[in-house]
Amino acid sequence: MTSGSAPGKIILFGEHAVVYGRPALAVPISQVRAHATIEDIEGVPTGRIQLQAPQIQLSAWLDELPPEEPLARVTRLTLRALELDQPPAFRITVHSTIPIASGLGSGAAVSVAVVRAIAAHFGRRLSPGEQSALAFEVEKLHHGKPSGIDNTVVAYERPVYFVRGAEPEPFAIPTPLSLIIADTGLATPTAEAVMGVRRRWEADKQAYEDFFDQIAALVKQARRAIESGHTDCLGPLMDRNQELLAAIGVSSPELDRLITAARAAGASGAKLSGAGLGGNVIALVNPQDAEAVTHALRSAGASLVLRSVVGGPDHDIS
Ligand code: MEV
Repeated sequence: MTSGSAPGKIILFGEHAVVYGRPALAVPISQVRAHATIEDIEGVPTGRIQLQAPQIQLSAWLDELPPEEPLARVTRLTLRALELDQPPAFRITVHSTIPIASGLGSGAAVSVAVVRAIAAHFGRRLSPGEQSALAFEVEKLHHGKPSGIDNTVVAYERPVYFVRGAEPEPFAIPTPLSLIIADTGLATPTAEAVMGVRRRWEADKQAYEDFFDQIAALVKQARRAIESGHTDCLGPLMDRNQELLAAIGVSSPELDRLITAARAAGASGAKLSGAGLGGNVIALVNPQDAEAVTHALRSAGASLVLRSVVGGPDHDIS
């Protein structure tokens, strides 16, 4: 039996604007992960592959699945990339602790876990860039114009400063950031959120380009602050990013309720993370306030609350 796994992710700053060529900052979150395991199946003709994902009630042979089924797509693309035309029959089983459709990169993580498991099963290595490129092809199924940030941060497994079409730039987080991630429990329809922004951008390009420029400026300021360890200004930058996300129409009453609760309980800043409308908020906290903020988020109706500390002196960005 061979296996592969990949972490979830959060976007610290810059979602949506990143689709329009602006930079964004994202970090992997390894408390939640997607796992794929592979085992040979005896007595079945070569080339036959079974896919199992009990959490989404999927159990099927690859050749019975349509091209747009995400697991089938990543499996076919990986086999093609590895030039495996007729591999001995095998079964892939996928499990994930990343909430689905919540802005935590579950789709990208499942794809990368499958790519890694297949490569490992056949004793092959694919670079993070190759893994990311395969997962990107699957991301395109979710919405027409993905920036590629989700597959990149998940495949590289390190904090990245990301600009669409450019090599991802890993960045250092010398002072650890204590984050609370809270799920509204509402599925975040990425395609709907991204298409909504696109419609509004088409109706008023000047205003939206200006919003995206303001978000880009925040991203650059945040990167400088994080890299220099001057993290005090990050909370207000998150709050400002949230105002701009609300202005482009991707916040929601459920997200606003959690954000307000986190700030009232002492978070130094809070914003939605990912596509918005539903999904997750992230709150930046001083470690001594983490308990109170966690409690406030649960009381305000969060369906899941995770604590994550990202970066720190031992953190490796090589
Ligand atoms: C989704 O995690 C992030 C968005 O910016 C979409 C994308 O970058 O493709 C909303």
